Amino acid sequence: MACRRAAALGRLLVIAAALALRAPALASGLSGAWRMDEPKDSGVVLHTIIILRQSGVATEATVMPNCAVEIPVRDVRVEGGDLVFAIADWGWSFRVRPEGADLRVILSYDRGKTEVVRIAKPATAADMQLPAAAAPPALRELPANGLAATPPMGWNSWNHFSEAVDDRVIRETADAMVASGMAAAGYTYVNIDDTWELGRDAQGSIVANRKFPDMRALAAYVHGRGLKLGIYSSPGPATCGGYEGSYGHEEQDARTYAAWGIDYLKYDWCSASRVYPPAQVRAVYQRMGSALQACGRPIVYSLCEYGMGDVWTWGPAAGANLWRTTGDIQDNWDSMCANGFSQDRLARYAAPGHWNDPDMLEVGNGGMSPAEYRTHFSLWCMLAAPLIAGNDLRAMSRDTREILTNREAIAVDQDPLGRQGSVISRRGGVEIWTKAMSGGARALAVFNRNADDREVSLAWSDIGMASKPSALRDLWRHADLVAAGRGYSGRVPGHGVTLLLVR
Ligand code: GLA
Repeated sequence: MACRRAAALGRLLVIAAALALRAPALASGLSGAWRMDEPKDSGVVLHTIIILRQSGVATEATVMPNCAVEIPVRDVRVEGGDLVFAIADWGWSFRVRPEGADLRVILSYDRGKTEVVRIAKPATAADMQLPAAAAPPALRELPANGLAATPPMGWNSWNHFSEAVDDRVIRETADAMVASGMAAAGYTYVNIDDTWELGRDAQGSIVANRKFPDMRALAAYVHGRGLKLGIYSSPGPATCGGYEGSYGHEEQDARTYAAWGIDYLKYDWCSASRVYPPAQVRAVYQRMGSALQACGRPIVYSLCEYGMGDVWTWGPAAGANLWRTTGDIQDNWDSMCANGFSQDRLARYAAPGHWNDPDMLEVGNGGMSPAEYRTHFSLWCMLAAPLIAGNDLRAMSRDTREILTNREAIAVDQDPLGRQGSVISRRGGVEIWTKAMSGGARALAVFNRNADDREVSLAWSDIGMASKPSALRDLWRHADLVAAGRGYSGRVPGHGVTLLLVR
């Protein structure tokens, strides 16, 4: 569905269309453009285009996974008569061979968890067709929408459920958010990520697939629990998952979201890269920003374009409340560190109403230890990052619940001053960060990125204090400490953190 309206970047389209026409004649070869359909339980059929160019023994490949982006694949090799290649960033790998006039594809995705065998057919020029590029609006500065005075708090389906999200999961998550104490701790938004879309009706209105039979009723259910409902789309023709995007329907979609009772939109670039040049990214986001401001309902606007074009410098002007600053987080220590510890240089762009977003939380998803998840959560709080949980709230361990509902850590994140913390020292894998808070207080985090425990000492003067603080509190042990005269010293466990409030 999604790719049927996607137009290629001119040059590639020409090459691909030419190859497509030749493909059937090359029954014994692999060169050509191939279309692989992927039917989903939701009633949606996704399309992936594989373009192969054989020349001598070498083969080049370009893949459009879910018709979302065009990815040239470098490491194409022959293994046991199959052509094998992978898209590392997506966690997809392909094993293909000719079968009659078609291509037999073994696709492994979900980082190896799912494997399917599909027959890819020669793609036609129509399969590769993208819509005519719409002229983006002239740049202007949108007014602030008055939302997200502190970083948004909530939950999003993607990190844990991926495409297995449906109406029931959302309702049960809303219930669990209340029952677990998360709502009382400040979590409000229950956000549906990608894979809810079906297509458009005769009037061009977006329609949800059968996983979401009644969005209006779902919003009413979530609102009935005192919570808010979020949704996801793309400025391109297809989302990253290959579902219907908002391209050409931006104002109409904003009105539909308002009519359903939606309170938050995550807007994910993906296939927009196939229709707009990178220089138009701000104008494209501004278009939906204006549409949301005109739709008659307050909707938090979350940009997801992975930091392209220094989004932090123009996000507020495009009407955004938050913007992703990195690629996708994964549920492991290295990924979390790469996303979180790289945010220092962006500190000055965070302010009430406008937040840097190093991606959603992985706390409780199982890939890190409790100590590592405490580090993850503390770092996000120091960064005044949105706290969007990404685990299964219906089945949380005690550790997970205690981390996500640590109100003293949350108060650091949600401090009304709205300052993002920054690093004051990085030495031997130990990072010391401070965050200015209202009333002259400050948060102090000592992160140990080493695998083994470290003794860490710092002088009060290191954090700009002339004398010892009058109050010192450990925000994970929930205990007041006696401040020593010269400074703080303590043992920080491997991959762990000490999070302190200093007054
Ligand atoms: C992109 C985003 C993710 C998620 C997926 C859904 O990768 O960065 O957060 O929304 O798309 O397809």
